[in-house]
Amino acid sequence: MLLTSLSLLPAEAPAEYGDVVLNRFAEKEGMRPVIFPHWFHRIRFRCKVCHFELGFKMRAGANQIKMNDIIDGRFCGMCHDGETAWSVENCDLCHSGKAGLPPGIFGGHETLGPGRW
Ligand code: HEC
Ligand code: HEC
Ligand code: HEC
Repeated sequence: MLLTSLSLLPAEAPAEYGDVVLNRFAEKEGMRPVIFPHWFHRIRFRCKVCHFELGFKMRAGANQIKMNDIIDGRFCGMCHDGETAWSVENCDLCHSGKAGLPPGIFGGHETLGPGRW
């Protein structure tokens, strides 16, 4: 389903660098918001791996990512499978945001990483 036009979140900082908070579903479903350290990933992988091959839209808050997709090996689950990177069982490494964080870009020129926000 494509809901890009419903994204209410203007970009505030150059996201290739800071951390992205993903919280469309997590907190509503009783999990802490997800912190995605964009900078950490972009120095390891090419943009097109995520923004073309894995289908992540280049807009904070624009992606509808569900945990089942990840467990099925899509989105974050393409790499967080226990081989390329640690597996989905490590809930707290992704769900590390403080309560109430809205989706969006946080931080500046480098990743401050899980647990910072
Ligand atoms: C590799 C990162 C990652 C790991 C590890 C991870 N999650 Fe998630 N999870 C996400 C992302 C990204 C979302 C979507 C966030 C959003 O937009 O709200 C999400 C969403 C969710 C949601 C919201 C409802 C839904 O169905 O999507 C629940 C509940 C959830 N995760 C539970 C878990 C549990 C329990 C674990 C550990 C067994 C876990 N997650 C591990 C990244 C992860
Ligand atoms: C490991 C996967 C991954 C890689 C590699 C990656 N990105 Fe991203 N990018 C994401 C995710 C996930 C989001 C957040 C999407 C969301 O919030 O729904 C994002 C968001 C963005 C945004 C949105 C900014 C905003 O303010 O809304 C831009 C622009 C972007 N990426 C550019 C890049 C560029 C340029 C590169 C390469 C230098 C890159 N990305 C590499 C996963 C990646
Ligand atoms: C293209 C592959 C790829 C994708 C897609 C990907 N990751 Fe990662 N991620 C990695 C690798 C590799 C590491 C480093 C793992 C290690 O150190 O063992 C990592 C590390 C992390 C870390 C720890 C960073 C640190 O400072 O140690 C977090 C948090 C994380 N990923 C969250 C996510 C979330 C959330 C998503 C989806 C929105 C995602 N990742 C998608 C490959 C990926």
